[in-house]
Amino acid sequence: MKRAGVAILGLGVVGGGTYQILTEKREYFKKTQGVDLTVECVLEKNVERARELGVEEDKIANSIEEVVSNPNVDIVVEVIGGTGVAKTFVTKALMSGKTVVTSNKELFAKHWPELEAQAKKMHAGLFFEASCVGGVPIIRTLQEGMQANKILSIKGIINGTTNYILTKMANEGSSYEEALKEAQRLGYAEFNPTADVEGFDATYKLSILSSLAFNKKICIENVYREGITGVDKEDIAYGKEMGYTLKLLGIGKDTEKGVEVRVHPTFVKNDNPLASVNDSFNAVHLVGDAVGEIMLYGRGAGALPTGSAIVSDVIFAAKHDQYFYANFKNNQQGNKETKFVKDFVSKYYIRLSVMDKAGVLSKIAGVFSKNNVSISEVKQVSYEDGKAQIIIITHECGESLVKKTLDKLQSLDEVYGVKGTIRMED
Ligand code: HSE
Repeated sequence: MKRAGVAILGLGVVGGGTYQILTEKREYFKKTQGVDLTVECVLEKNVERARELGVEEDKIANSIEEVVSNPNVDIVVEVIGGTGVAKTFVTKALMSGKTVVTSNKELFAKHWPELEAQAKKMHAGLFFEASCVGGVPIIRTLQEGMQANKILSIKGIINGTTNYILTKMANEGSSYEEALKEAQRLGYAEFNPTADVEGFDATYKLSILSSLAFNKKICIENVYREGITGVDKEDIAYGKEMGYTLKLLGIGKDTEKGVEVRVHPTFVKNDNPLASVNDSFNAVHLVGDAVGEIMLYGRGAGALPTGSAIVSDVIFAAKHDQYFYANFKNNQQGNKETKFVKDFVSKYYIRLSVMDKAGVLSKIAGVFSKNNVSISEVKQVSYEDGKAQIIIITHECGESLVKKTLDKLQSLDEVYGVKGTIRMED
């Protein structure tokens, strides 16, 4: 039977889940996978936490040097997070020829090329299933299940915190601030929620996923990013009335014009499968040229879901002697030949506060027409003190045309303001 010794760096939520799965299911893995996995040591500042989890005293390491010089350790699991000490530890592990399994999307999105170069040099494995969409096996699907396809698009709800917040705003009419507070109370959102709510977490994940999907390095700088902090509950409610659900989507498309990668709040039709992915759940929708559409759904965070992804990497690493690395030029700056689409084409939801008097609607329609932006739906939604709110849904058009249209509208005396602009995706 194959054997592998594992070290776990960091015993927070995910480290604890990983420890639990590895220790409680050792016999199960022997039977079902033919591998004997043992936790040889852990590295955790909070020694009490290690003891609480039942780690034996002699398995609590004092330093990374102790971990990487341990001959019984074959695989190092990094679940510390961030790019500081985690990067130092991962680099040391790879330099010692240990295979690394990480859940660290920020580290991976920012430093994948140099970590991979180090792994290749030492013939070590570098696994990162848990870095994107937690327990949902999207990386392995892209690497091993979709090879027959050119992947045309990837669209996903890849951040559970923002999905929880948007679901609460939609279902309960909460404001962004109220929903965020509740997400923090439940432990979904961090005390400093920036990484999630400003879309950084989703950007890291989309850069990794779209690199694998399109077989080209997509750097985080190539991803357009907009978070959910500016989302107004009124737009969610009006969208709902009109048959749309608001989601923070990560969208990647590989078209003849180039690659487009973006993270932003997006209205999807209620019958789109992504519309029914609620609360902290995640989902990724892929279109391959042979298979057509597929969708993966599940938990994107949490001790056991993320632990599941980590342990599946550990098992894979333990069963294979040859590892695979990126098939594309994995440069820190990306490949200069890759073309990116910046002027995204999409449908738009636009909410305007306007003067409620004769001729205003036709004047507004004229601005759209002049800028070659075609209107698909119009709705007047409220009347108050001589003001009306008009919602306009456009046909697909380039972002630059929409911007010109909005600039012109803002300058009209009859328009009090553009209250909401949200991209839409079929
Ligand atoms: N904070 C992330 C989320 C989980 O809310 O989905 C880990 O990436």
